[in-house]
Amino acid sequence: MSRRDRRRPVSLRPMPGPDAQMRSVSPARMRAASAPAAPSSRNLFVALLPLRFFVGATFVYAGLDKLIDPRFLQATGPGSIGEQLTGFTHASPLAGLVTVFALPFPVLIGFLMALAEIAIGLGALTGLLYRASAAAGAAISLLFFLTASWTVHPYYYGPDLPYAAGWLTLALAGHGGLAVLRVPFLAMLAPDDDSAEASPGRRAVLQGGILAAAAVVVAGAGGMWGALFRGSDLRGSDTGAAVPGASLTPGVGTTGASPSPAIAAASTAPASAAPPAAGQLATLTSLKPRTALPFVDPTSGDPAILIRLANGSVVAFDAVCTHAGCTVEYDPPSGLLGCPCHGAVFDPTHNADVLQGPAPVPLAALPIVVNKATGAITLGG
Ligand code: FES
Repeated sequence: MSRRDRRRPVSLRPMPGPDAQMRSVSPARMRAASAPAAPSSRNLFVALLPLRFFVGATFVYAGLDKLIDPRFLQATGPGSIGEQLTGFTHASPLAGLVTVFALPFPVLIGFLMALAEIAIGLGALTGLLYRASAAAGAAISLLFFLTASWTVHPYYYGPDLPYAAGWLTLALAGHGGLAVLRVPFLAMLAPDDDSAEASPGRRAVLQGGILAAAAVVVAGAGGMWGALFRGSDLRGSDTGAAVPGASLTPGVGTTGASPSPAIAAASTAPASAAPPAAGQLATLTSLKPRTALPFVDPTSGDPAILIRLANGSVVAFDAVCTHAGCTVEYDPPSGLLGCPCHGAVFDPTHNADVLQGPAPVPLAALPIVVNKATGAITLGG
């Protein structure tokens, strides 16, 4: 040992390691979700970035899509929030809550849902009020699972449970200080440090205010877009499938859910010259192959659809989607029935079998009778 070493006795106290450094951090800083990640844990937060930005961007998109889709913010009609809520009352463990708290205010509920999705998505993307946003994302995804996806079997075909799990992961992990939007006046009003002015509560309130304001601005922009470009949604698709040539027997289809724009257009086609017999839906003359005619099933009160297939035969189905109760629409080019809400596809040539989920089972077939002499089509007994 050199003389220099003898002057400086060796300390047996362990050097402070990463754990000791963590213990020395004040509780306020420990709580702060924006604390920079230690190098060892930084990889975790980097690994979570794809999930974070995917679910964040998807929620913003989903919220905007709801606001822009002219069918969604309606109390009734195919693809409307009112129709979806009604469907939830048939097959959801939350049916009672939906009936009491949501069904009387469908448009308000749809608007708040869209606004919440946008705010949650922005929280994930910007890192503002991050853990609360992610927790809210998990909660709203769970709500969707218990309503919109409840009838999807097996459960793994439904999209909402994976979203709930993803959001929960983000809520538990935090953002580790990565990709957080720095708002200058927020740092002044509620510093993110150990100073006396630092206040996690005040910071959370301010971040929540910023997020709410940003969500309103984004929603407003989406609403203006929808007003300007009414007729197409964010996916760029038309708002309804064309149903050419179908004529509507007077009185049929005028109650219950409003017809889609395409179906409404079809209903204005000239009616058959001969007065329809009682209970008659259409005639073989008026219903050309590859056309469809919406009507209301007098027995159930459900929207229903009569279809003349390409081979000339005629079939009829209850038009209530077996997923969450939206009204399916006929697509003449493909000859298939599609659901505007979550994309289920049914094949009318094979008893409305499900070609694409999330609908769990085929549409209910309705018996019809075709009078060979007159060509009149009526519902069977
Ligand atoms: Fe969801 Fe039809 S209601 S796919």
